[in-house]
Amino acid sequence: MKTKMDNRILILFCTLNVFFSAFSYALKQQYISAVGDPGMQRDELRIAFEGWNFCNEIGKEAPGMGSPRAADCFDLSGSSLKHRVTEADNNLGVGTPFPGLNPKALKNPDLYAVEKELYLGSLCEVADTPNPWQFWMVMLKNGNYDTMSGLCPENGKKVGPFKPGRFPCFGDGCMNQPIFYHQPTDFTGTGTLRGSYNGTYELGSNFTDGIDNISFYEVVWEKKVGIGSWVFSHKLKTSKKYPWLMLYLRADASKGFSGGYHYDTRGMLKTLPESPNFKVRLSLDVKRGGGPKSQFYLIDIGSCWKNNGAPCDGDVLTDVTRYSEMIINPETPAWCSPKNLINCPPFHRTPNNTMIYRNDTAHFPYSAYHYYCAPGNAQHLEQPVSLCDPYSNPQAQELVQLLPHPIWAEYGYPTKPGEGWVGDARTWELDVGGLSSRLYFYQDPGTPPARRIWTSIDVGTEIFVSNKDEVAEWTLSDFDVLLTPSTPLSL
Ligand SMILES: *[C@@H]1O[C@H](CO)[C@@H](O)[C@H](O)[C@H]1NC(C)=O
Ligand SMILES: *[C@@H]1O[C@H](CO)[C@@H](O)[C@H](O)[C@H]1NC(C)=O
Ligand SMILES: *[C@@H]1O[C@H](CO)[C@@H](O)[C@H](O)[C@H]1NC(C)=O
Ligand SMILES: *[C@@H]1O[C@H](CO)[C@@H](O)[C@H](O)[C@H]1NC(C)=O
Ligand SMILES: *[C@@H]1O[C@H](CO)[C@@H](O)[C@H](O)[C@H]1NC(C)=O
Repeated sequence: MKTKMDNRILILFCTLNVFFSAFSYALKQQYISAVGDPGMQRDELRIAFEGWNFCNEIGKEAPGMGSPRAADCFDLSGSSLKHRVTEADNNLGVGTPFPGLNPKALKNPDLYAVEKELYLGSLCEVADTPNPWQFWMVMLKNGNYDTMSGLCPENGKKVGPFKPGRFPCFGDGCMNQPIFYHQPTDFTGTGTLRGSYNGTYELGSNFTDGIDNISFYEVVWEKKVGIGSWVFSHKLKTSKKYPWLMLYLRADASKGFSGGYHYDTRGMLKTLPESPNFKVRLSLDVKRGGGPKSQFYLIDIGSCWKNNGAPCDGDVLTDVTRYSEMIINPETPAWCSPKNLINCPPFHRTPNNTMIYRNDTAHFPYSAYHYYCAPGNAQHLEQPVSLCDPYSNPQAQELVQLLPHPIWAEYGYPTKPGEGWVGDARTWELDVGGLSSRLYFYQDPGTPPARRIWTSIDVGTEIFVSNKDEVAEWTLSDFDVLLTPSTPLSL
């Protein structure tokens, strides 16, 4: 009798278990991943590298380093690795042809890098539905700008040299690309894979003497075969000569433009997420913050649309890069305040779509906004307004920079200073789509609202002109972009 009853309980238990597994499976199935490598779990990694100067171009290659585009992509067969990209491919630089290279790009470092990225993409590409994809992207940017070089356009318009003072630059050659070392992925021990990129902007410096007084960047990736996520360990160090540096890990569009570009790129987003129907899941462990100027982005999203709401088409005079990012460094102040409306967006929109104007001092959440700046080519701006830096992108840009605040709780974002920061490692599930659907972005009056389709989603830090050498260190893993159905699916 007792045994029989136990069996019945066991059967009931098993039935329930099957039911709940099916239920949670069905719940999971409501989300479709937009990235080629959901949760960074694929053993056969694809990870690329790109170096940008101040206006997201190359300018001049670093001697002996080739064009600053590289990739580490491999397949596994049993316990051996088969790399798809050789070091000769990674060393390709201006003057050296490769399959598919347009002759016009052969001697032009900016155009050459664009085509090298497409070539590396072709070597790494993975067939998938609805689209093939290529790689995660490590982006490294040097914020020095030599205003006497005339290298960067102003809101997309070519301009001549102007007198220095507004941007860091130690003199001739301050916009250089870095020294780049690559440790191709390999087994380090039983079942663990590891590889890395590292380097410095100080050309001619010798690492064997350590990294005192020089800049440094490093991304190391590591994974146990068949288990969990890749863990990407990042390190970024500024120096006197290079006080403004950016290092991000990006999921970019696998074709078309991605945030900050005006040409075709390759990436990880096989489907482009559109507000409001997507979420981003990731694990972040910030180990060292990078000092008071480190604008650490617990998600930066980038896209491009024109001021009349039309999608970008590569015309740098009318295309506008749009960025929104939450800065989680608790030392970052809100520049937006009742006394500085110039640094606030014209209004805040609540989750129930109530608009609160920035002059409504009783209700506007000033401390939720670090800084808002408008595109330099907008014609109908509400005053007062701060215009975004016209030189640091190939075209005009707009920035909506957020800070942790209780009003973001609805979207799963940090709600208090310090959340997600050093000592508070977490796995986040951010309703990036929901939040970004309600942010203010400039549009010409009377034009149909732009579709907010995001071509780059990234995490990392921008150490914004530090007055001493600073070091930031963090790990990123489990990254995924989940498309949520616009109408609930039935179970
Ligand atoms: C940079 O990476 C190389 C391997 O590519 C490694 O030997 C070297 O120790 C690293 N440098 C530093 C300063 O970590
Ligand atoms: C770096 O310095 C070490 C000794 O300090 C030397 O053996 C090595 O050749 C140097 N490397 C370069 C690239 O200068
Ligand atoms: C770095 O700079 C400091 C201050 O100028 C100096 O004391 C130190 O010796 C330098 N370190 C190296 C390795 O050059
Ligand atoms: C919307 O939310 C705000 C608080 O964020 C609340 O004061 C207001 O009453 C709500 N409006 C509606 C129509 O629900
Ligand atoms: C606040 O700003 C809105 C939108 O710009 C404007 O319509 C309104 O008149 C302003 N209110 C006050 C009290 O200034």
